[in-house]
Amino acid sequence: MASQKVFTLSQVAQHRSKKDCWFVINGRVLDVTKFLNEHPAGEEVLIEVAGKDATKQFDNIGHSKEAQNLLLKYQVGVLQGHAFTESDKKAFFVESTRKEMSASVIKDDKMPKYAAFLEFILPLVFTGFYLSYRYL
Ligand code: HEM
Repeated sequence: MASQKVFTLSQVAQHRSKKDCWFVINGRVLDVTKFLNEHPAGEEVLIEVAGKDATKQFDNIGHSKEAQNLLLKYQVGVLQGHAFTESDKKAFFVESTRKEMSASVIKDDKMPKYAAFLEFILPLVFTGFYLSYRYL
């Protein structure tokens, strides 16, 4: 969480158009510009709360767990002065660990592919040498 950018509410308030739409939910600063036309209830409700703290409106709808998880995808930072609860911090931690894990999986993935190719080709090469030495 230390790497999160910190924004004040007045900075968030500068992004309240259809082409640049931010708001705050539970202390997370979200850039939902790309989500506007994906929102199941349409973009208008989101534009109405653009530049503001939309926590109450978001909670009042009773958004599903899926919708709550989507918040992480659009997060660009945190609201200055917001006190995060332990479960908030846990969510941050789980998300960043997941990102690190998938990054290392991608990184490690390069070597096994190369090694698998050598594992396949080397015995063939040696067998070829042996057979040509033995019978030619
Ligand atoms: C990034 C923020 C948001 C995300 C990711 C999001 C996502 C969703 C999703 C996935 C649904 C479908 C139902 C569900 O799964 O709960 C939904 C429905 C809805 N959302 Fe959002 N939403 C966001 C913000 C908001 C805000 C700020 C408002 C109100 C100002 C709002 C109002 C609604 C309404 C009215 C529905 C329809 C509920 C129904 O039909 O029962 N949403 N949203």
